[in-house]
Amino acid sequence: MVKEYSLLDSGDLYRLERFGDFVLSRPCPQALWKPTLKREIWDKADASFSREGSGGWKIRTRLPDQWIVELSQVKFKISLTDFGHVGLFPEHSLIWNEMRSLIRSRTHEPNILNLFAYSGGATLAAAQAGAQVCHLDASKGMVSWARDNAALNELSHAPIRWIVDDVMKFLLREIKRGVRYDGIILDPPTFGRGNKGEVFKIEREIQPLLHLCRSVLSEHPLFVYFTSHTPGMTPMVLQHLLEQMMQGEQGDVSAREMVLPAERGLGIPYGSVALWKGPL
Ligand SMILES: C[S@@+](CC[C@H](N)C(=O)[O-])C[C@H]1O[C@@H](n2cnc3c(N)ncnc32)[C@H](O)[C@@H]1O
Repeated sequence: MVKEYSLLDSGDLYRLERFGDFVLSRPCPQALWKPTLKREIWDKADASFSREGSGGWKIRTRLPDQWIVELSQVKFKISLTDFGHVGLFPEHSLIWNEMRSLIRSRTHEPNILNLFAYSGGATLAAAQAGAQVCHLDASKGMVSWARDNAALNELSHAPIRWIVDDVMKFLLREIKRGVRYDGIILDPPTFGRGNKGEVFKIEREIQPLLHLCRSVLSEHPLFVYFTSHTPGMTPMVLQHLLEQMMQGEQGDVSAREMVLPAERGLGIPYGSVALWKGPL
């Protein structure tokens, strides 16, 4: 049986997380509070990542190169990367169930676009709910990781288009081709690069990006999920941006802090999420 992900504790600028059989400790700058669990428990973590000094992973026990973990009914391949990432941003899982319900509320198979799609959590949750999905990321390695995750979830033959491209260039092409989507999920980074090195800076690109997203929406869209981890991109900032993007379209915008709940104890705020929802 595949083991689950859970947040065990956080504090003193770190978080302690169980990824199935293994416990990892990683930096968490917003965890300014005191940890709840005893030091001995933290010290038993199988691996700890630090950004101090030369930084990197400190491994306590023998860890496999990769292993499998389940979160919100999606299985993920987990592997330690040099940046402290492991192939899963668990705070996003809280929106997957809500998104699945929206997809299931449609009688036809909606066409969903997942931008900056990373290891594919939202892509696979949408496919599980019966959507066709276009999964886009500039990193060939990440798209390949997401395809491995699709196979783990028995979704290798699901209607998913896997695209390695720069977001802005891809959207311009989709507009020209007349391809339209009933739902968009976007999680733009603060700074990123397209597959040909195109620079993406959120403060410069966010308005053109949202404008292009609006242009690829179908006539009766279902939703736009917009998440951000960039400091200063509070729920209200995302709400204003989505309201302006969807001006003139019937629907509602709501926004909230994204929170990663803990098994026991304190949850961790992880950026913001705004949702535009069309009339059902
Ligand atoms: C922080 S991750 C997003 C997390 C993801 N949405 C999740 O739920 O786990 C940012 C992703 O955006 C991709 N990216 C950055 N700049 C890009 C660009 N210009 N075009 C396409 N993808 C880009 C990166 O390769 C990376 O996988």
